[in-house]
Amino acid sequence: MKPIKKAILPVAGLGTRMLPAAKTTPKEMLPVVDRPLIHYVLAEARAAGIEHFVLVTGRGKGAMEDYFDHAVELEATLQAKGKDEMLNSLLADLPKEGEISYVRQMAPLGLGHAVWCARHIIGDEPFAVLLPDVLTTGPTACMAQAVAAYHTLGGNILVVEPVPDHMTHNYGVIAPQSRDGRVIKMSGMVEKPPQGTAPSNLAVLGRYILQPEIFDILAERERGAGGEIQLTDAMAKLMQSQSFHALDYEGESFDCGDRLGWLRANVAFALNNPDLAPAFRAIVTELMDGSPD
Ligand code: G1P
Repeated sequence: MKPIKKAILPVAGLGTRMLPAAKTTPKEMLPVVDRPLIHYVLAEARAAGIEHFVLVTGRGKGAMEDYFDHAVELEATLQAKGKDEMLNSLLADLPKEGEISYVRQMAPLGLGHAVWCARHIIGDEPFAVLLPDVLTTGPTACMAQAVAAYHTLGGNILVVEPVPDHMTHNYGVIAPQSRDGRVIKMSGMVEKPPQGTAPSNLAVLGRYILQPEIFDILAERERGAGGEIQLTDAMAKLMQSQSFHALDYEGESFDCGDRLGWLRANVAFALNNPDLAPAFRAIVTELMDGSPD
């Protein structure tokens, strides 16, 4: 079984649900507490043993390349002022040279197309995909749980979580066949099923382990939901010849692609931060006491 060493992070999306902030700041650079979304997701991939990160980017997304590089003036200033702790923490978070590659998705044709754009860098090996809109917490990193499941099961793995029935139309949803603990054998999946038609309430979370044969299917450029080249449709096709399992992972997810999800993540992460939690809790309590509801 080939190990999972590379991850694709699709970051070309426009972020229309986070306008106007996402007009000039890539949505992946919006902060949760004190670091951008993409920082958390890269760290999650690293915690799963990923060594090479492929960011599929687009116009206006250059801030991410600068973020993952030295900021020479800033580092020199911090050093001159003796702010060693801050400097060392910035340096420790930097990827090593050559660990990140960037490819441009030259047209907004969908998630499947974004993944396909990274095919030459991935080559002929299984790989991970992490959608940076979604942050996860748990006893171990979500992607690491998926990699552990892959080591037992092989094939393709999708992380899922239960969502309320009225929310399923926002996600890729799996059709479960049988369940063993947290591992679910799948019989199908559908992208954004219309209300009342979802095959289950298990939504695809945005963490995948895929075999490279998916690229041949994506190359056919078939359009699906919303007129886009959907990763879910390509996976449903690959399922005819390869094994697919879903992992109902242990932890909690935060969809930061819209305002409420992003606000929820900020509150949850701040309340979980030992430096901030006591003062932040007091602020929230004060605001809640003064609010009409
Ligand atoms: C994408 C995927 C969908 C998945 C979701 C998770 O949709 O196409 O299958 O459930 O991410 O966040 P998007 O949110 O980009 O519309």
